[in-house]
Amino acid sequence: MREVIPSQRVRVSARSNSAKSVDYKTMHSFISGASPSSGVRLQCPRCKANIDQLNCQFCGLRMPIQNGIVNALPPERAAHFARFIDDYERIRAAEGRWSQEDDFYLNLPYKDISGQNSNQWKIRARSFDYLIKHVLHRNLEHGGRILDLGAGNCWMSYRLALANYRPVAVDLLTNDRDGMGAAEHFRKYLPALFPRFQAEAARLPFQTEQFDAVIFNASFHYAEDYVATLREALRCVKSGGLVIISDTPWYSREESGRMMVAERSAAFLKRYGTASDSVKSLEYLTDEHLRSLEEHLGIRWTIYRPRYGLKWGMRPLIARLRKRREPSRFRVYATQKP
Ligand SMILES: C[S@@+](CC[C@H](N)C(=O)[O-])C[C@H]1O[C@@H](n2cnc3c(N)ncnc32)[C@H](O)[C@@H]1O
Repeated sequence: MREVIPSQRVRVSARSNSAKSVDYKTMHSFISGASPSSGVRLQCPRCKANIDQLNCQFCGLRMPIQNGIVNALPPERAAHFARFIDDYERIRAAEGRWSQEDDFYLNLPYKDISGQNSNQWKIRARSFDYLIKHVLHRNLEHGGRILDLGAGNCWMSYRLALANYRPVAVDLLTNDRDGMGAAEHFRKYLPALFPRFQAEAARLPFQTEQFDAVIFNASFHYAEDYVATLREALRCVKSGGLVIISDTPWYSREESGRMMVAERSAAFLKRYGTASDSVKSLEYLTDEHLRSLEEHLGIRWTIYRPRYGLKWGMRPLIARLRKRREPSRFRVYATQKP
């Protein structure tokens, strides 16, 4: 693992809230038409055959388009995730992570106009600025195709499109509040909406080596198997391309991560009547996890440490002084496919 020294917060064109700052002609050439799969080469997520249409002629899996989103989640996998999706949607709605207003989505991550989760979004905005300036702009050509894995409401795909990349969004959720259906709020601000796929990160419906980068933003820790999930992302990225993990909680000690999971489950149970643990997500990273991924997959991480301000930086010390659990920290991890 290699450490990268942090630098100042930056401002990039991806911050613009409107599409006015975008070179429309350039963007049009990057986003090839409005079809839901837009030139992405497909693979059946069930039998792994390469296919050139949305129905697999080998195993019979059908991938219907629903509200502009390709459903690439086979029924047996939809059943596996059904309770997770149900719990997650209920909790996120109760946490106020949605709005009927375009402005809510257009302003993310820089401003949470609902005011419900503003402190979290401040951190997310810092990570995103850092990611764009220090990782993407330095390593990727404009127009690079980027897989936004675990895209949620697709705010990052929207920002990547504004920054002249070609995003493809993937998530389990398709609802129009906090899932990929919410990307409709971006439609009139882009020449064409990016492709969206309902799929699971460990079984992607894409042929190998066609993305310039894959980003797991606040989503890698939902994986049930880190090695399988990262291997799948590496399969889809081109040789020399990047796989990036950002906004996943990191702890210096395994025990701190375990304590966080137990505390959160108890809080969910009390507040929402469910521990939201139907899927055995791994929930956090440690250096041991990162080293194990390096060994299993023959990769090497570059670790970036964005600055989140003095108050945030003091949290571990304050927790130690108060004899509390170590707080989570956020770093950005990038690896280049050999
Ligand atoms: C905390 S949200 C992050 C959303 C978005 N990336 C962001 O930065 O706001 C995590 C997302 O990961 C998605 N997710 C969880 N497990 C997944 C899986 N196995 N495959 C695909 N997406 C998954 C969830 O549905 C959720 O939308």
